[in-house]
Amino acid sequence: KNEWSHGAVTRGFSNIFGTFDRKALQRGFQVYKEVCSACHSMNLLSYRNLSALGYNEAEITAIAAGYDMTDGPNDEGEMFTRKGVPADHFKAPFPNEKAAAAANGGKAPPDLSLIVKARKGGEDYIVALMTGFEPAPAGFTVPSGGNYNKAFPGHVIAMPPPLSDGGVTYADGTKATVEQQAKDVATFLAWAAEPNLEARHEMGLKVMIFLIVLAGILYAAKRAVWADQH
Ligand code: HEM
Repeated sequence: KNEWSHGAVTRGFSNIFGTFDRKALQRGFQVYKEVCSACHSMNLLSYRNLSALGYNEAEITAIAAGYDMTDGPNDEGEMFTRKGVPADHFKAPFPNEKAAAAANGGKAPPDLSLIVKARKGGEDYIVALMTGFEPAPAGFTVPSGGNYNKAFPGHVIAMPPPLSDGGVTYADGTKATVEQQAKDVATFLAWAAEPNLEARHEMGLKVMIFLIVLAGILYAAKRAVWADQH
């Protein structure tokens, strides 16, 4: 629980086995791809990492091929453009921090790879931020280029409200409300920031099962060893 606790999202993206909901992850990736990636990079992810979301090789190859990548220099010392491949990192919207800031009124949109770890409140804060755009209260002056957001520290953020009802059309037919998109993208960003979470939870579960079985064996052994004692 924290100040952004949201009930539905607070650890709600994971079940008792500690795994993410694959459908929510795919919807969240769709939101990132179609909305957030216009401004935010996710440098630590490669297209091939999407296999963890349940996409197969053909799907990942197709997603990667949808991007033109700048590569090089080649033997002639020139940069060239080629289609993306699964091993490529997610394509960034801007060539560098300076260009990113220039295109966004002086504030560069941060890379989202680890944002869930970097911000207090984690995935709950992401949901609160995405759903926190509202008219400024009376007496609060929002400077030009700023947007009022009740979750953002200081309440004035350079990011315009990115989500709108029906802004994406989900491949799985889920109704794309702002709230739904916010939760899905938060789930996706939570996975991205901690891709080994599931493996850790799985190991934890195996350890618990092992300990329960071991306790049973030890108890049975104790009963057998002390069977003749009074
Ligand atoms: C900042 C998420 C779409 C521009 C941020 C932050 C997050 C975020 C978590 C950091 C807030 C903080 O520092 O606490 C998202 C998500 C998006 C999205 C999940 C898609 C659903 C966009 C789009 C744009 C944009 C489309 C550009 C039109 C910015 C800018 C900042 C920012 C300029 C820096 C704001 C500041 O420091 O004042 N975003 N964003 N974002 N975002 Fe986005």
